[in-house]
Amino acid sequence: MCGIVGFTGRENALPILIKGLHALEYRGYDSAGIAAITKEGELRVIKTRGRIEALEKKVLAAGDIDCTCGIGHTRWATHGEPSDANSHPHLGGDGKIAVVHNGIIENYLELREHLTARGYVFHSETDTETVAHLIADLHKNSTDGDIVRTVLRAIHRVRGSYALGVVSLDRPDEIIAARRDNPLVIGLGEGENMIASDITAIIRRTRKYIILDDNEVAVVRPDEVIVYNNFGERIEKEVRTVTWDLSAAEKGGYEHFMIKEIMEQPRAISDTIRPRLKDGEIVFEENGLTDDRMANAKHVHIIGCGSALHAGIVGQRVIESLCRVRCTARVASEFRYENPIIEPDDLCIVISQSGETADTLAAMRQAKAAGAFTVAIVNVVSSTIAREADGVLYTWAGPEISVATTKAYSAQLSALYLIAGRLAFARGLMDAEQHKAFCASLAALPDLVQKTLECKEQMQFLATRYNNRASVFFLGRGLDYAAAMEASLKLKEISYIHSEAYAAGELKHGTISLIEDGTLVVALATQHELYEKTVSNIREVTSRGAEVILIAGADFTGDESACRYVVRLPECPAILSASLSIVPLQLLAYYIAVERSCDVDKPRNLAKSVTVE
Ligand code: AGP
Repeated sequence: MCGIVGFTGRENALPILIKGLHALEYRGYDSAGIAAITKEGELRVIKTRGRIEALEKKVLAAGDIDCTCGIGHTRWATHGEPSDANSHPHLGGDGKIAVVHNGIIENYLELREHLTARGYVFHSETDTETVAHLIADLHKNSTDGDIVRTVLRAIHRVRGSYALGVVSLDRPDEIIAARRDNPLVIGLGEGENMIASDITAIIRRTRKYIILDDNEVAVVRPDEVIVYNNFGERIEKEVRTVTWDLSAAEKGGYEHFMIKEIMEQPRAISDTIRPRLKDGEIVFEENGLTDDRMANAKHVHIIGCGSALHAGIVGQRVIESLCRVRCTARVASEFRYENPIIEPDDLCIVISQSGETADTLAAMRQAKAAGAFTVAIVNVVSSTIAREADGVLYTWAGPEISVATTKAYSAQLSALYLIAGRLAFARGLMDAEQHKAFCASLAALPDLVQKTLECKEQMQFLATRYNNRASVFFLGRGLDYAAAMEASLKLKEISYIHSEAYAAGELKHGTISLIEDGTLVVALATQHELYEKTVSNIREVTSRGAEVILIAGADFTGDESACRYVVRLPECPAILSASLSIVPLQLLAYYIAVERSCDVDKPRNLAKSVTVE
């Protein structure tokens, strides 16, 4: 996710901005830049593709820049590939205004057309540059010449999410900040003030800050900060004090990136789904997933590795259930040797958080060579798989630091629901009303996951009881079995406890011989029509000494008496239940790993992206 920092005070701004950008590196980025207003009255922009070190080199090469006010940005590309030109800050109009932005401007194309027609020349492919020119245009034509009012007018013209930092030559010691759906804090110092995406970038200068809320605009000067609401009225804001130490703040106050990312799942799901829901319809950005192509697909292949594959197995069940088209999820590293039957009209969904997994990339190339249309569900923009696929459906989970994926997996499920919903509509399996209802269910999913996260303390308690088991079994049927696969992998990869996901109906055909006194079994039951059978499977294992934790759907009516613990999920459409049932099990795996003093974010032997076969 992009990072924003700004400083205005009495010291030279550049080193402070660079330090602030370093503090934001954990967010993931592909380019960086700064804009500074010099004592000579110039607005200098220095920016580059690549790491902050590359930016520092350019700043050094630019010689002495005497400035006490400026903004900085680390870009995590959304619109336009990583390049110098697409890096932020972006200049507006005649170069007297510079803007940095985090978020997605959904109506940037119409703004771009409007501004181009008004003579503005675009130098990048970004949505951000439209905001820079829009502010410049509105400011040039304003009667009051008030940059704050101009920014307020501009943000009323913008649809989508943003955290903005704006500097202008008109007000050489001022930063204007605005936000909607993207975080922005204002650091309060002595004779200096800052803006930043999060407090990690201000904590070295001050521990006092305010949080800008949605649709608010702030004027940040060295000696004062004024905040306006959406109506341009001045409002008072609570001054907060940072309670974290510097190292903790790097993780946004969390002990590990993994727990931070588990807690970020509602936002990751929302950012993935929201931009693709328009007026009760699933609408994709240009990615080749046309209704014709989806209506004519005879077979949908899904390929991936690890958690990406597990998401694909959930997707397979959802697609077959909603779309009644043959759908096969396969291990990417096996796909290549199975000599799979692929027809030119086939659709091949390629799932990868990193977009660099060698097995998945190779399988995709094979599917492409066989004539399938490949669409990649990827979290890293411009990654290899994203670039080579015929089409891309990005997950907007933001950079995922912890090796064990959580928010990206949940965002992958969300992307698969979007494909399944549009596929069903395109194939006539959903009429407009049903499609609208499905969209409403998807729009409600982030809040349901947020509510599911309330089981955090319960899972932390269970981890104190079950962190010493030699092996754990995860049982489920249908979608619950698919979710159990991901739950089992989470536990294995971060706690090093052996675990297996098993089709609940299959256990009795051999593996039940491993069940003995004290064996931990986690049973998932969210599919109403399968409750009775799952209760029978629970009894099969408890009668042989197993202790069962049941993850139950809201409408679970079976006999719970045999279960040691029950975790009840919020009410949710059964077809989307995998997005909820995984949450307590991510938390269980996380807290068991913490109890076992494992290196949660960097488990032994694992890499975040497996670029070797
Ligand atoms: C997930 O927790 C694991 N780190 C691993 O299974 C991962 O999902 C797999 O390596 C695929 O990675 P990708 O999504 O980046 O392709």
